[in-house]
Amino acid sequence: MVEQTLIFLKPDAVRNRLTGRIISRFEDRGFKIRGMRMLTLTSELSDKHYAEHIDKPFYPGLKDYVMSGPIVAVVLEAENAVSVVRRMVGDTDAGLAQPGTIRGDFALLKSENGIHASDSPESAQREIANFFESLV
Ligand code: CMP
Repeated sequence: MVEQTLIFLKPDAVRNRLTGRIISRFEDRGFKIRGMRMLTLTSELSDKHYAEHIDKPFYPGLKDYVMSGPIVAVVLEAENAVSVVRRMVGDTDAGLAQPGTIRGDFALLKSENGIHASDSPESAQREIANFFESLV
């Protein structure tokens, strides 16, 4: 089934000038880009996006990190987009991510893993609505 999913390049990936290389991987694979914007997360949007993590001990550090500079949010569309993108992105703990995945090639840490990708079609719809009000 054709699906849409949300990714965003986290501030370390943008700072390290990886934006083009990472987005190219999705275009090369055959994804259509349906939306793209650069923004710096506000406290409110961080809390909304990471609502399920707000009470976790790592959230204050995660919030500082994701608000530390601009991010690039992208809506990608393809057959089974959510699961294909998750496989391309790799393990949340970048230190364990397979070489050839985005985290496995461009990141080392769980706490600074370079890229976010929606984990289910339901999360994707919620997250796209958070970042791209005009697309839903
Ligand atoms: P992301 O895919 O953006 O979704 C939740 C984020 O929380 C995840 O990437 C990690 O960067 C971060 N995260 C999850 N578990 C931990 C942890 N134990 N310590 C630090 N950060 C974490």
